[in-house]
Amino acid sequence: MKESIKNILVTGGAGFIGSHTVDLLIEKGYRVVVLDSLKPPTHNGRVPTWLNKKAKLIRGDVRRKKDWEKALAGVDAVVHLAAYMDYHLDFATYVETNIGSIALLFEHIAEKKLPIQKIVIASSQAVYGEGKYRCKTHGIMYVPPREEAQFKKHQWEQHCPTCGREVLPVAEREDDVLLPLAPYGLSKLSSEQFAMAMGRAFSIPAVALRFSIVLGARQSFRHFYSGALRSFAVNVRNREPIEMNEDGGQLRDFVYVKDAARAIVKTLRDPRADFEAFNVGSGRATRIFDLAKMVAKQSRVAFKPLLQQRYRVGGTRHSVMNVSKLKGFGWKPRHTLTEAVDDYLAWLSNFKGFNKNLRKTEAHMKKSGILKKY
Ligand SMILES: NC(=O)c1ccc[n+]([C@@H]2O[C@H](COP(=O)([O-])OP(=O)(O)OC[C@H]3O[C@@H](n4cnc5c(N)ncnc54)[C@H](O)[C@@H]3O)[C@@H](O)[C@H]2O)c1
Repeated sequence: MKESIKNILVTGGAGFIGSHTVDLLIEKGYRVVVLDSLKPPTHNGRVPTWLNKKAKLIRGDVRRKKDWEKALAGVDAVVHLAAYMDYHLDFATYVETNIGSIALLFEHIAEKKLPIQKIVIASSQAVYGEGKYRCKTHGIMYVPPREEAQFKKHQWEQHCPTCGREVLPVAEREDDVLLPLAPYGLSKLSSEQFAMAMGRAFSIPAVALRFSIVLGARQSFRHFYSGALRSFAVNVRNREPIEMNEDGGQLRDFVYVKDAARAIVKTLRDPRADFEAFNVGSGRATRIFDLAKMVAKQSRVAFKPLLQQRYRVGGTRHSVMNVSKLKGFGWKPRHTLTEAVDDYLAWLSNFKGFNKNLRKTEAHMKKSGILKKY
């Protein structure tokens, strides 16, 4: 552990993963500076009530060098979480925010010869794209995304391009082939590569954390697409059937936000993590249908599924993670999916505009051709 690290900058520290990370760092005795724009979609311009009062907040934008300059003064290490997310058509914003911010960070460090000792950045499971599959006859393969023609026939599973048999998902490992499919994943992969290369060039250890789907309280309801749990929780609140995409058989990895924050702090403090990328997930594959069932059960309502052959363009069929690399460094998830769901449901009850937000984002996704039905 680097004892000389005392002052840590957390970009995006007012957000979901960021604010839990800030709490944990402060609990461990670090001094924390937060650089956050506090802008939509995550915020509405106001400082969120959950931002730790002991953190020093700098309102600013990671796309502006001047704001980095202010935020980096006196800092020993950086946790870079601020990012442009979801799926939007302004592709250049992903490059400008997610890659441009890393470039500006290193540019400023290099120009001013700042004594930054470590940089941890948030990457994503999206870098794996469609992921790895196994065919009983043809072995391991990386399959292309599913096509519209397949969706029209309601054939949701992936198939072997050689023999046409259904293939099974294999949990992603850090040394897999990385084939991101969308601007978000592409920008996350480039930001990892940028941080590793510049980190080596300037002898600043970098770490990239590829989060799976992180769940828990403080997750913004305003994001364009923040996943199945939000949508299921809103259905339950409205006493509606729970509507799922495809046949609900998609497999996903869900991890509780406090475990994600522990992974950040662990890799920040552990020099064995330097210049490494890690998967951060539960390491467990959960069927979307089972998540929906759990949301109903934890809300104490009867489970009424609704499957209307709806699907999300560009959505991967399965996305499962192997987290043994990070476990080998002494981290493991401490919280169950039920705890994460309960925490989220309790959080939802504090929020007034969730219904309107869900309808707005669904309508937007349909209009932009991302959410389709056959
Ligand atoms: N939540 C997940 O399931 C998940 C999964 C994979 C990766 N990630 C990554 O983890 C990181 C944190 O995500 P989160 O879920 O906490 O999101 P979030 O939206 O709750 O938090 C992001 C924070 O960054 C701030 N921000 C955004 N753009 C900014 C800018 N240009 N300048 C300054 N601040 C800006 C926002 O105001 C917000 O407070 C992101 O890099 C995201 O890509 C999250």
